[in-house]
Amino acid sequence: MSAGTLARGLFLATFGEPPEGVWSSPGRLNLIGEHTDYNEGFALPFAIPQRTAVAAAPRTDGRLVLVSAQRPGVVGLAASELAKGAVAGWAAYPLGVLWAIRELRGEDLFEAGLSLAIASDVPTGAGLSSSAALECATALALNDLAQLRLNRHQLAAAGRRAENEMVGAPTGILDQLASLLSPSDAALLLDCRDGEATPVPLGFAAAGLAVLVADSGVHHHLADGGYAQRRAQCEVAAQVLGVPSLREATPALLAQHRERLGPLLFRRARHVVTENARVLDTVRLVREGEAREIGGLITASHASLRDDFEVSVPELDAIVEAANGAGALGARMVGGGFGGSALALVPRELLPQVSAAIAGTFAARGVPAPPVVEVIPSAPGHRDT
Ligand code: GLA
Repeated sequence: MSAGTLARGLFLATFGEPPEGVWSSPGRLNLIGEHTDYNEGFALPFAIPQRTAVAAAPRTDGRLVLVSAQRPGVVGLAASELAKGAVAGWAAYPLGVLWAIRELRGEDLFEAGLSLAIASDVPTGAGLSSSAALECATALALNDLAQLRLNRHQLAAAGRRAENEMVGAPTGILDQLASLLSPSDAALLLDCRDGEATPVPLGFAAAGLAVLVADSGVHHHLADGGYAQRRAQCEVAAQVLGVPSLREATPALLAQHRERLGPLLFRRARHVVTENARVLDTVRLVREGEAREIGGLITASHASLRDDFEVSVPELDAIVEAANGAGALGARMVGGGFGGSALALVPRELLPQVSAAIAGTFAARGVPAPPVVEVIPSAPGHRDT
């Protein structure tokens, strides 16, 4: 059953009447370009088939009432009480979006109240942007219900603001732009400096390639310290280099300031500079019809995230090594790191071997292997019904 159907059923069961509409938005897989977004750099995500759906309708009693198929209980508060810090837990994501849109518009939207029922099949903590899927589905719902006519960049920004200021995770704009702007059958080259988003057909099917994703089972939370610390280190590195962001840094500039940066900041900055170049090289190769050649860039991205940015974990390294050992063209961790999933780019005929090799890393740990799934570019956020 789709997340949209589940959300509609949950709404009916909880509130005793059908919703006014159902909106859904996908998780994303970032093919390459990790920890570049908040450095104003490049990334190449695509929307995955898994989605989060929000069934919604206005109320008349001045209350905001939320339920989720994934969490127990009902969350409720007076619409007039919505403020930064007023909500914790999962409801901070959707209510944070309402708060951010109120801030953007400078008006008290949904003062008379709002009911939301949420259902999702995006795995949480897996580096596949379950939070952005929830934020973006909510933003689409609020935009339509209140007839705000905000564009998708504005909705994405509201989602990010919810996550930054209501949830307290200092993330970039990658996930929200990917969820709302990805084309249904291609990846999206994002320039995170100005939000420019360019569709990039990957040509994987024609090249006989598939993308596998495996959840390491090690789960992270981006409001934990490691992500914020990396972000802060990048900002300090940019200051030392005398550039507005690491987007503006070059290998030559890094070499020139190596001493002043010190070894740690040098490595952090080197990851960002080289990762931006890898994104652009990946786009160039797929545009030239050389999709099979991007595997080396994908594995180099992993090495850089592991050694220079230090956001991988041994479980992800093991998946990457196993996949590459079994014939994947390239593999890497995806998302913010400290756990989550890894992807592998695999010649279709080798899917069984690579999946089995990945499963073997779990057997070695003595934990049951999760399903290793193939993902293909899928639809962006939309109104379902
Ligand atoms: C998380 C954040 C994104 C981005 C990635 C790393 O998914 O939400 O903004 O920084 O990590 O690329």
